[in-house]
Amino acid sequence: MSPISLTQFLIEEKRAGHVDPDLRLLIEVVARACKRISIAIGKGALGGVLGEAGTGNVQGEAQKKLDVLSNEILLEANAWGGHLAACASEEMEEPQPIPDAYPKGNFLLLFDPLDGSSNIDVNVSVGTIFSVLRCPDGVAVPTAEHFLQPGTAQVAAGYCVYGPSTLLVLTVGHGTHVFTLDREVGSFVLTRRDVRIPEETSEFAVNASNQRHWEAPMQRYVADLLAGKDGPRGRDFNMRWVASMVADVHRIITRGGIFTYPLDAKCKAKGGRLRLMYEANPMALIVEQAGGAASTGRERLLEVRPTALHQRVPVFLGSKQEVDTAVRYHREADTGT
Ligand code: F6P
Repeated sequence: MSPISLTQFLIEEKRAGHVDPDLRLLIEVVARACKRISIAIGKGALGGVLGEAGTGNVQGEAQKKLDVLSNEILLEANAWGGHLAACASEEMEEPQPIPDAYPKGNFLLLFDPLDGSSNIDVNVSVGTIFSVLRCPDGVAVPTAEHFLQPGTAQVAAGYCVYGPSTLLVLTVGHGTHVFTLDREVGSFVLTRRDVRIPEETSEFAVNASNQRHWEAPMQRYVADLLAGKDGPRGRDFNMRWVASMVADVHRIITRGGIFTYPLDAKCKAKGGRLRLMYEANPMALIVEQAGGAASTGRERLLEVRPTALHQRVPVFLGSKQEVDTAVRYHREADTGT
């Protein structure tokens, strides 16, 4: 069978009534921007793109040159197509309106242009994460409040992982699908349709250096994982942590596992470490559409009602049974059962 390109896949999804024409265009534009980001990352030191930009983002984090470049590539690519009402980026305090020179559409795009960017300079996988919402009816100039919709309202979500190969993982609410960039042809090709995450796992991903700051249920949960076959879980678990959410989540999409960035004393005042709108929600939709689960530990992630564009949340996502187990530890701690 001849390979199915992203374009063909989206046309078929449109025929099936799963995407409307503007959403199709939006996804193609984001994918094209990701190809440009992939090329820039691939050049590395030869392209002069490594190192610090010398600026800080809205989160107070030092920006890499590639953070700034990736943000510009995504903004520029999405400005003129007529499919968007506005964009919001993890790198910018306020949403970016569509320039007056161009027509406006009905979708809102949110993105983390370069997730895991602290890994760029050591040549470890990084990625782009995106989420698409509908612009509320009658809103001509969307502001931050119009983006504050729960994850269940997302009409599409995806991520690109720039690793040994460049992959696009996409959902439009009808399963999760993986496309691999054919670098010679310059086209994303469908390589896994309808991914299913194994329900059970023996692998977990967490930054264990935060252990002393964790809450009691997380302490107990990880202690039981580490106790392995001699502990209450009755089997050994393996641990992996890339520190690029895209790479860690992609491993889980591929072979199962649980990814967690829990609440800890260091990030408690902010609500968590990872961003709800740019990281947690799109990943939660992708994972749920692949048969997995995603939670804050106490609530389904996709049902969190956002109160701020750059809000942070605790995250537990991946194989369903393991996420349910982590949630149970929290419930038992909270209810004293
Ligand atoms: O939010 C950015 C991010 O780099 C994620 O991609 C990753 O999962 C996490 O932060 C890494 O956190 P830490 O620096 O605590 O390992």
